[in-house]
Amino acid sequence: MSLISAYYIGLMSGTSLDGVDGVLVEVTAPAHAGAVETTRQLAAAYLPFSSSLRDALLALQVSDTDELHREMQAANQLVLVYANCVLQLLSQSRLTPEHITAIGAHGQTIRHRPEWGYTRQLNNPALLAELTGINVIADFRSRDIAAGGQGAPLVPAYHRHVFGLLSESRVVANIGGISNISVLRADGSVMGFDTGPGNVLMDAWIMQHHGRSFDTNGDWAAQGSVIPGLLTLLNAEAFLHVPPPKSTGRDLFNLIWLRQKLSGFTDASAADVQATLCIYTASTLIEATLAYAPDVQQLYICGGGAYNSTLMRQLQLQLQLGGSSASVQNTSVLGVSPSHVEALAFAWLAQRFMQRLSGNLPDVTGASGGRVLGALYPA
Ligand SMILES: Nc1ncnc2c1ncn2[C@@H]1O[C@H](COP(=O)(O)OP(=O)(O)O)[C@@H](O)[C@H]1O
Ligand SMILES: [Mg+2]
Repeated sequence: MSLISAYYIGLMSGTSLDGVDGVLVEVTAPAHAGAVETTRQLAAAYLPFSSSLRDALLALQVSDTDELHREMQAANQLVLVYANCVLQLLSQSRLTPEHITAIGAHGQTIRHRPEWGYTRQLNNPALLAELTGINVIADFRSRDIAAGGQGAPLVPAYHRHVFGLLSESRVVANIGGISNISVLRADGSVMGFDTGPGNVLMDAWIMQHHGRSFDTNGDWAAQGSVIPGLLTLLNAEAFLHVPPPKSTGRDLFNLIWLRQKLSGFTDASAADVQATLCIYTASTLIEATLAYAPDVQQLYICGGGAYNSTLMRQLQLQLQLGGSSASVQNTSVLGVSPSHVEALAFAWLAQRFMQRLSGNLPDVTGASGGRVLGALYPA
């Protein structure tokens, strides 16, 4: 039996603004029509952003002077990191640009305003195609928004593709800067949405107090105690109570939002605030999970939040408090590293584009139908 292989690269840099995760996959299909393809990860690379790039990207999250110029300057810097990541993936896998069918490059979200009919993933795919000599697919979210959807989350379609299993009710939660869940029901149906903050608030708070970009293992959060009044106030956030489809970003959950909420808690210890943010992150995710998947049997975590052991413990605890006996594990038990899931999703979405297949799930995003997502910048 003859086999046909194609190679794709996925590049993801999310709201945490930590860096870019890249993967290179080989998709193999028997040459006859309708045959089942298999996907194998050949390489993975992570490149952290420099603090100057991070600062430039963070500054672009809000409107300010000269932002068009600053956006494209930051995009050009971002693409240099993306191109470097691609080079590392190629050298690890001993492949050359000619082997690669396409790169799926998510870009860096600097605005997400589906209610205004747009979302903005800063990128310069033309430069990435020029630097790498590989087809680049970019701007995956806009078409879904044009079709009336949220443009996010997009990963549930990939979660179903790779983690969907018809014998148990699973939820896959991606805890990046923002958290989103995919409810993979035993009957094969899927729904999903953004549940609220992921690491973004805990990251912002430890940066403010200790100048560190994240709370390693959640050790600082573990030293504090929850502030019940603050938790109640945070839980009143309207976004949490809106039914899906819904998506959010740094547009809502950011340090300014947090400072406003903290204005009545000036005496609170910083560690107690961190502990409260950790429980808030966990409890909003679990409440959303149990509201839409009360029969969940397994909760699988991906994204950087999977490495925060205090958060992982809180997720398990909040499930128990919600009356669920489901267990919390990270996606490595399913054979995929938590750090690679999103980049794999964008490699898969690039493949969907090249095959002109839809990449969105209208039940998730609220779009009026399935759409081919992205735009091609040829090699
Ligand atoms: N060892 C760790 N302990 C605690 N948090 C971690 C650890 N490793 C990563 N993280 C968290 O994960 C975040 C990055 O997650 P990621 O999935 O890349 O998010 P995004 O998609 O938003 O970029 C970091 O900002 C940090 O908050
Ligand atoms: Mg990241």
